[in-house]
Amino acid sequence: MFQKAALLAFSLATAVYGQQVGTQMTETHPKLSWQTCTSSGCTAAANGAVTLDANWRWLHTTSGYTNCYTGNTWNSSICTDGKSCAANCALDGADYSGTYGVTTSGNALTMKFVTTGANKNIGARVYLMADDTHYQQFKLLNKEFTFDVDVSNLPCGLNGALYFSEMDADGGLAKYSTNKAGAKYGTGYCDSQCPRDIKFINGEANSVGWTASPNDTNAGTGQYGSCCNELDVWEANSISAAYTPHPCTVNGQTRCQGDDCAITSRYSGVCDPDGCDFNSYRQGDTSFYGPGLTVDTKKPFTVVTQFLTDNNSTTGTLTEIRRLYVQNGKVIQNSKSKIAGMSAYDSITGAYCDDQKAAFGDTTSFQNHGGLKTIGQSMGRGMTLVLSVWDDHAVNMLWLDSTYPTTSDPTKPGIARGTCSTSSGAPTDVETANANASVIYSNIKFGDIGSTFSSTGTTSPTSPGGGSSTTTTTAPQTTQTKYGQW
Ligand SMILES: *[C@@H]1O[C@H](CO)[C@@H](O)[C@H](O)[C@H]1NC(C)=O
Ligand SMILES: *[C@@H]1O[C@H](CO)[C@@H](O)[C@H](O)[C@H]1NC(C)=O
Ligand SMILES: *[C@@H]1O[C@H](CO)[C@@H](O)[C@H](O)[C@H]1NC(C)=O
Ligand SMILES: *[C@@H]1O[C@H](CO)[C@@H](O)[C@H](O)[C@H]1NC(C)=O
Ligand SMILES: *[C@@H]1O[C@H](CO)[C@@H](O)[C@H](O)[C@H]1NC(C)=O
Repeated sequence: MFQKAALLAFSLATAVYGQQVGTQMTETHPKLSWQTCTSSGCTAAANGAVTLDANWRWLHTTSGYTNCYTGNTWNSSICTDGKSCAANCALDGADYSGTYGVTTSGNALTMKFVTTGANKNIGARVYLMADDTHYQQFKLLNKEFTFDVDVSNLPCGLNGALYFSEMDADGGLAKYSTNKAGAKYGTGYCDSQCPRDIKFINGEANSVGWTASPNDTNAGTGQYGSCCNELDVWEANSISAAYTPHPCTVNGQTRCQGDDCAITSRYSGVCDPDGCDFNSYRQGDTSFYGPGLTVDTKKPFTVVTQFLTDNNSTTGTLTEIRRLYVQNGKVIQNSKSKIAGMSAYDSITGAYCDDQKAAFGDTTSFQNHGGLKTIGQSMGRGMTLVLSVWDDHAVNMLWLDSTYPTTSDPTKPGIARGTCSTSSGAPTDVETANANASVIYSNIKFGDIGSTFSSTGTTSPTSPGGGSSTTTTTAPQTTQTKYGQW
């Protein structure tokens, strides 16, 4: 579960340097405005923009336009080994809207699921930039991160994800001299699944030992993976949502090989693949999140996440990740766990993770990889913001929105995660039936606790989902509220 799918697609109409840079199309990052906030208000960040991950880009010879990689296969006469492949191949600029279905307008980013241009593109992954050649790095401890999301057009099987990975700000350009493309071209991705579908890692192609996926025409896996701490703030569709920290025992983006990539066993790697998740449905509140429910996914809403430390300082130890929602001008407290053997937890703490793993009979991989303290140390070093939309070639996203494992008793705690059918989410189905799906992320704000959101203070008697008064409170008038007041 909690796997990141391979989301690879190719355009023959665009060009970029493998780890060199191509010149077929100028890379122009779509602008995306966002804000930083304090108790005295919010200000627009400079140079807000996004860049497309390198894996999606056209990879062709530096000398011409022969593909270095087509579908899920490397050209073995160009890519005889990882180093020469990096020298011979170039990543090119992206046609964001035409090829990848990625568009921005003001503070809003829309990502389409399937885009049919000259080629068919499935999903995308983009990063927020600080400038043209660096990813924006966020230090989230004792801070709050807020965004609006519209998941109304994201059905079962899809995942609109907003998360942080501990990537190098320059995409690995300085560390690896053979990487000439860098963050401008979306290099250096890593996450807690130690993905092996990444085409270039540490300035070398992952072409040696590459195995084409049996069920994904755009993906394969190489001998290396790219691991790092991952903080999933939001993985969701219109039916289910989860937030999940995933610690690793390595600091920063780290190339793995063999069992460090969890090859023989899911839990043998340097990262925690499961994480400690909070999914309201899985925690037993089945009427909180969904179409027409307390958080009504038929309309946009605001997602607030607070990263609290033991001494209320940015250098303290991470102790709690809190979640709030705002919709129709009202603050909605997170749902409370209703699981036998667990307190009515409504946030992620060390005690929540311990009790949840025990109640669900899950492994303690999260704790074994350092738990909240370790992901907190990663947050202290700085992480890159990732926004994506994907489908799941491994397990059809059932870990997020259905009964999983599918053969387990759904009345057993932790098995039911959402109302999607166990037969839903197959990529061959959703890529056809739900090709027009999309997600919109907007109004990103980052700042001091209590400074990034407010409400109109009006409570509508006809609020969606019946507006349960026990889960909905009127927000304070000012933006200076401390989290303790909620
Ligand atoms: C692989 O690259 C070689 C050398 O550039 C080229 O001649 C050949 O056509 C390519 N093969 C494919 C399948 O594109
Ligand atoms: C941190 O702030 C909260 C809310 O204001 C307060 O309840 C708590 O006592 C503070 N903790 C410390 C260690 O100062
Ligand atoms: C918070 O804790 C960290 C780590 O122990 C310490 O370095 C820092 O000085 C503390 N900050 C405050 C304001 O107490
Ligand atoms: C697709 O293939 C991968 C192996 O690359 C396998 O792990 C996965 O279970 C397959 N997915 C489905 C839905 O058959
Ligand atoms: C997707 O949208 C396009 C354009 O609006 C439309 O022509 C097409 O029929 C839609 N496809 C599906 C599967 O709904």
